[in-house]
Amino acid sequence: MRIPRNFIDRLINRVDLVDLINSYISLRKTGINYKACCPFHNEKTPSFTVNAEKQFYYCFGCGTHGTAITFLINYKNLSFFEAVEELASRLGIEMEYEQGSSPASAMKSYEELYQLMIEASKFFKQQLRNSTKAINYLKTRGVSGEIARDFGLGYAPAEWDVLLKTLGTTPEKRTALLKTGLIKQNESGHRYDRFRDRVMFPILDKRGRIIAFGGRTINQTNKHEPKYINSPETELFKKRHELYGWYLASKLRPLKNIIVVEGYTDVIALAQAGIKNVVATLGTAISEDHIKILFSRVSEIIFSFDGDKAGQKAAWRALETSLPLIHAGRQVNFLFLPSEHDPDSLVRQEGMQSFTTRLTRAIPLSNYLFDTLIQQVNLNIPEGRAALFEKAKALLTRLPDGAYKEQMWHKLKQTTYQAPPKSKRRINSKNFKQITSLRELSLVHQAIVCLLHKPALSQLIENLEQLNVLKSKDITLLYELIEFTLKNPQLTLDELCEHWRDTEYTQIINKLAAQKALFTETNINIEKDFLGAINRLYEDYMNQRMDFLTHKVTSLTAKEKQELQSLYKSRGQNSQY
Ligand code: UTP
Ligand code: MN
Repeated sequence: MRIPRNFIDRLINRVDLVDLINSYISLRKTGINYKACCPFHNEKTPSFTVNAEKQFYYCFGCGTHGTAITFLINYKNLSFFEAVEELASRLGIEMEYEQGSSPASAMKSYEELYQLMIEASKFFKQQLRNSTKAINYLKTRGVSGEIARDFGLGYAPAEWDVLLKTLGTTPEKRTALLKTGLIKQNESGHRYDRFRDRVMFPILDKRGRIIAFGGRTINQTNKHEPKYINSPETELFKKRHELYGWYLASKLRPLKNIIVVEGYTDVIALAQAGIKNVVATLGTAISEDHIKILFSRVSEIIFSFDGDKAGQKAAWRALETSLPLIHAGRQVNFLFLPSEHDPDSLVRQEGMQSFTTRLTRAIPLSNYLFDTLIQQVNLNIPEGRAALFEKAKALLTRLPDGAYKEQMWHKLKQTTYQAPPKSKRRINSKNFKQITSLRELSLVHQAIVCLLHKPALSQLIENLEQLNVLKSKDITLLYELIEFTLKNPQLTLDELCEHWRDTEYTQIINKLAAQKALFTETNINIEKDFLGAINRLYEDYMNQRMDFLTHKVTSLTAKEKQELQSLYKSRGQNSQY
């Protein structure tokens, strides 16, 4: 269907752009132009300009520009066709369609489809009134007659072609029914009703026209039937653009925020409890289009997904999808329910008051984002903080520029920034007597002092277990230090001291850490010094064992004899390095 070019020109000539834009955002006259803060990007000083004379708008900040129609398309998230229709109806002008491409019949076919949907809905409502089984099902779910009416609920009987027979009275109507998706056709050309033995939920577009249905089976025993089926994508129905419950919710005044849930029955149960600012996606993940639609009317969205694993996953996807659309003034919150509940079951169990209280405690996106990522890393070590930074960065870069993005970066930097140890915790060399030669220290302390000043040395150690059985003073500290630096070779001297703060080793660690004089540039043989100390410790170990074994009073076991032999051998070779 096409609209004549000159018809569009006529609309643009007729409309007062200042008037139109001013009905959505408030404009201020400055000179010959009108100004406002740009509705298409976030800014603090107005650079969005409307030129009344030339009838176009331009933003000096983000470069967006256009006429009345582009404004409606972008601001209200309309298709081109819808924007033209909206403008025409604002101006009280009858729509015109192009001759030749049989626009009249195209229009007629759409009208016919909408009409059929109304007839089908009437039929389903009628069937509901006649079915005690379906009425009882709704009763067990706590749905009142009033809510059933508000949402136009119906029932598709458990028969193969009752809808087809009732509405498909002519070949044209039967073809049209196929187009609406209410009727299916198998390979052999046989036609039958798509929805059978199901409670029917009409799905409305933003103007209140029925464009699809969802159906929930009420036959609990038939495990082969899916619990829910929806109309397929048709000329009338594009899932990505539609939200169940939006038409009713969008009419609420005032409308401060919108709750997004997963299921039809969640929308209905919440409405039953008096919470009516609720929509559901239609068996798909929330799309960017969905979020745009909601943000065109409210500044706060609350996602309330089921408490189970699938719900958690859906929530994280919703977070990712929302990011490009959040700027100062807009807020996305998350409400997590107990794992065995969805909004329907929870509100029926605990009532409206408790649920409303939960809503007020929904977690802001910023918290949800950081809390989730922080759980995945260890913030105590630089590796963990770096990992957090990278993960968060990938998400934060998707935010549009502006105050919100800045705040999020600020929070990330705060979270990943490790304050340097307070000055009183920093090792002050002046408090300790400076040793001038390593020989003044025991072997264990020689190894420790080297490691403290160069933690990567721990990677040179081979027989860690043997070290641990040595009977020397502070050998356990050396052993722990090697293990710790193997895991965290990047740690600084101060961080190592911090690790042993308030332990039995604090004193000796601090003393050894203070020996800066040992590692001056003229004296930098730290690796050799370290290995020298370690090798002599191994020798000590072997001597200790040999002593023990040769002086053992009782006879040696076979294993001990073997050990003694190999100790003799390796002492001859001096050391393993
Ligand atoms: P749920 O399985 O969470 O159902 O599906 P629910 O809303 O709690 O339904 P009840 O309480 O058992 O009646 C959530 C949504 O996922 C889609 C539907 O849109 C449903 O509302 N869905 C689910 C399907 O499309 N097909 C299915 O088989 C199941
Ligand atoms: Mn449910």
